[in-house]
Amino acid sequence: MRRGLLIVALLLGACESEAPSTQEAAEPGDAVPATVEAPPPERAVEVVADATAIEHGQALVSQYQCNRCHDIAGVEPPELDYDCAGCHQQILAGTFEATAEELAQWQGRLQSLDEVPSLTHTDRFSRAWVASFLPDAHDVRPNLSASMPRFAMPPADAEAIAAFLVPTAEPPAPKRGDAERGRALLESKGCASCHRMTGVPSLAARPTPEPLAADVLALGQKMAPDLRFARDRMRPASLVAWIVDPKAVKPDASMPALGVTHSEAADIAAYLLEAELQPAPLGQVPVLPPVLERAVTYAEVHERIFGKICRHCHSDPNVVIGDGGPGYDGGFGFPKRAFDLSTYEGLRSGSLDDHGKRRSVFKDVNGQPRIVAHLLARHAEVAGQPVDGVRGMPLGLPPIPMDDIVLLKTWIEQGRKKGPA
Ligand code: HEC
Ligand code: HEC
Ligand code: HEC
Ligand code: HEC
Repeated sequence: MRRGLLIVALLLGACESEAPSTQEAAEPGDAVPATVEAPPPERAVEVVADATAIEHGQALVSQYQCNRCHDIAGVEPPELDYDCAGCHQQILAGTFEATAEELAQWQGRLQSLDEVPSLTHTDRFSRAWVASFLPDAHDVRPNLSASMPRFAMPPADAEAIAAFLVPTAEPPAPKRGDAERGRALLESKGCASCHRMTGVPSLAARPTPEPLAADVLALGQKMAPDLRFARDRMRPASLVAWIVDPKAVKPDASMPALGVTHSEAADIAAYLLEAELQPAPLGQVPVLPPVLERAVTYAEVHERIFGKICRHCHSDPNVVIGDGGPGYDGGFGFPKRAFDLSTYEGLRSGSLDDHGKRRSVFKDVNGQPRIVAHLLARHAEVAGQPVDGVRGMPLGLPPIPMDDIVLLKTWIEQGRKKGPA
């Protein structure tokens, strides 16, 4: 609702604020008035987003069902049956309506989507970064097991959503500090007790000067972004304001304020913006071991792979009563694939192609049965390696271990029989 009002204000003000507005007030979190410095020539200052794009972006956020995982300002949460993150969080908190026995069993198995960053106060981000991230998401938080699904999103949609999430003009960049002092402060203030910054010589992980409560530290470590991306993600003024007091920028931020002054923050920001970055190393894709000699049953494959992970997005809705998941009913902007991985019959009947015709998931693609190619593609996506035409599965979740993938491959090569009931 807050976002709704903001947009109305923007729509009203949009006509007169098309020009780059370097006269904007400083961020509320700035302790010291910002001094304007000309931006580096390669980076254009972002002006107020186009009103039509903002409106279109809001509609697209509903269409892509972003609210199934994210709390989004101005967008209603979905019904509980569709609320991936909300339902998981209720189960873990014990507030979901179920027997104590069911809850305990589920809590033991749940690990994904317990924490997802909320999409509030997103105008701290660079609009250009959001537009480049959405169609080609990469892992931002190294200790968070789930990542953004890789959508099939045309650039025009990504730009409209970015306009909705980052409608405002960029505030002027504050005066740059000293990068060398910034690096020393990153160590002495204990920033690396939660953060990594890949691409620079590793930062010493000292504790914060004031000890943090165990739960604050644990959540912070899980949710802390790799700081190599901060220069692309954050608008410079928000970067400095964030380092002084994260909650002044985003009230639900999971980083505590650490007693950093404005001028220290300007030094740290200078390091984050300027330090020379080595290119992100390509991760290794583990080698798929040779197929097994022993007999493998469907029951074994179901227990290790399909029943554990896949069926949560790929189930026949008539069987599970309710939502069949985005891999069955369609969702997250994908068409209906009607691919049921909760039963042997579902697996055998395959999925719908782009023309709505059934196709086998066992046919060769990239030298592997297609379903195996999708599982290997997820390893490649996570390692930052190029992927050829096949979307990684499980979508946005940690890859299936190679020992389990080879189990599936062995079962397929042995004639993929249903086997003993
Ligand atoms: C299946 C769950 C899921 C869906 C659906 C989803 N996201 Fe995400 N999103 C995530 C997760 C998990 C992260 C954190 C990833 C990380 O930090 O590595 C994330 C991160 C983000 C970020 C970065 C925010 C930050 O604080 O770092 C943005 C922006 C974002 N998502 C936008 C969207 C938009 C827009 C949509 C819809 C088009 C969407 N997401 C749909 C799970 C999801
Ligand atoms: C109505 C509640 C509910 C909704 C909605 C829901 N889940 Fe789950 N999910 C569960 C429960 C309960 C489990 C654990 C039960 C089990 O393993 O049998 C689970 C387990 C999972 C697992 C396997 C365990 C893990 O944490 O990795 C994945 C993956 C998963 N869900 C993904 C999703 C996704 C993606 C969505 C949205 C498309 C979703 N879930 C929506 C209740 C829900
Ligand atoms: C207790 C763990 C913790 C400590 C210590 C910590 N941070 Fe953070 N930091 C986080 C978390 C968690 C986030 C993401 C919060 C969110 O999105 O709600 C974050 C976000 C950031 C961001 C935004 C980056 C981005 O890409 O979104 C910057 C910049 C940052 N921290 C800098 C620092 C600096 C500088 C220090 C030391 C003065 C520091 N952090 C100490 C946990 C921590
Ligand atoms: C978070 C939800 C999610 C999870 C978990 C998931 N999938 Fe998917 N899957 C999808 C969506 C959405 C599509 C449709 C993608 C598209 O159209 O490109 C899909 C498509 C597929 C396809 C291709 C179907 C086709 O004809 O294009 C295969 C094969 C597949 N998934 C296998 C798996 C397997 C195996 C697992 C478990 C290891 C799994 N998926 C887990 C959401 C998921």
